[in-house]
Amino acid sequence: MLASIPSRRSLELLGAAVVAGGLAGAAFTAGVRRERRESKRLHRTLVQLLLNTLSSGDPVTARHSRRVADLTDPIAGALELPPREQATLRVAALLHDMGKIDDRFFHIIHSRSPLSKRQRAEIKQHPCESAHILEPLEPVHPEISRIVASHHECWNGSGYPNGLAGEEIPLAARIISVADVFDAVTQPRAYHDPLSVEEAFEALREDAGSKFDPAIVALLERPEVRERWAQIARSGLEEEERVQGRA
Ligand SMILES: [Fe+2]
Repeated sequence: MLASIPSRRSLELLGAAVVAGGLAGAAFTAGVRRERRESKRLHRTLVQLLLNTLSSGDPVTARHSRRVADLTDPIAGALELPPREQATLRVAALLHDMGKIDDRFFHIIHSRSPLSKRQRAEIKQHPCESAHILEPLEPVHPEISRIVASHHECWNGSGYPNGLAGEEIPLAARIISVADVFDAVTQPRAYHDPLSVEEAFEALREDAGSKFDPAIVALLERPEVRERWAQIARSGLEEEERVQGRA
């Protein structure tokens, strides 16, 4: 049987339907894009809110956390982490010490005298507190609780709170751990003068394979990573001197 030839009218209707379908599809796509943009904006606002909260209770820790996040960026780049993992790493680095906002830690963190055994045991609870606070971010940043809970674990299993070792420790936590110590030793604290950048790199190298993942520490030999870390330490020092001088 011969197929019937479509009439001019039905071709016009078909054309209109295709155009309408295309427009509806474009409107749908634009709507999805708009929603994604909006949810990203809300997410950034939420992270900023948490950081501001941390900053109003403990500005020293908030400035430290910003620098730790900046230090993790070139490592994420060197490792070519997928964008979603990079985003989770950055948010985890920004908020890894969020648990320190808990009142019971404040006097321990800012103590000018050596900590007692009880205080040392107590401060070791802060990664779990951070994990608890960040748990609602899990749908956007899977594993973020486990990452912040593990930022004081050591490659050889001697860290806390769970004594995880090697690759049992999430990669993001292993990166944060190196950046965390680098910032802690290169910036002035109540109980120590800062190390020079070179002394800090040397200290990290010494602890590679015991405290730190040696593969992460090895990335600090790359000129672009090394230079960026040195730059962050220098501008951090300037900021700390400015802020602490004013205080
Ligand atoms: Fe910490």
